[in-house]
Amino acid sequence: MLKIYDNTEDFTTYMGYEEIARQLDNIHVLYVHVPTDENIIEQIKYDYDVPYNDTIVLDSSTNNYQSLREQFKKEHFHTDYEMRLFTHGTAKFFFNVSDTFYELDVGPNDLISVPANVKHWFDAGEYPNIKAVRFFTEKDGWEANYT
Ligand SMILES: [Fe+2]
Repeated sequence: MLKIYDNTEDFTTYMGYEEIARQLDNIHVLYVHVPTDENIIEQIKYDYDVPYNDTIVLDSSTNNYQSLREQFKKEHFHTDYEMRLFTHGTAKFFFNVSDTFYELDVGPNDLISVPANVKHWFDAGEYPNIKAVRFFTEKDGWEANYT
């Protein structure tokens, strides 16, 4: 599900991958539902030219989750695109483009890529249970620039 909030805090809800992908394409955010395939990570690295990856897990065993959560919920942007594949659990991704707010539910098999300089934040909720693969064009990954 995708909600797009206008500046009166009214929102429009979009359902279904194709419709959501179309709305996100308007702000150049890539949103793809990838097949379950044991080679999918290698395929993504090849298809999108992102040679490096790591895996992030947030769950009840995550140390310092509350302070991490505060960090993830801060609006920021990167100077490179941010690409990740969710493989387990659900979370919310938010984008702010010219003060229009996008709230996207993400879950297993969702691949998203946030372009450079697009403001965004992320929340795995109070009781996180999520696993995602992050992809990078460079070995050191991307840094967050907080707004
Ligand atoms: Fe980010």
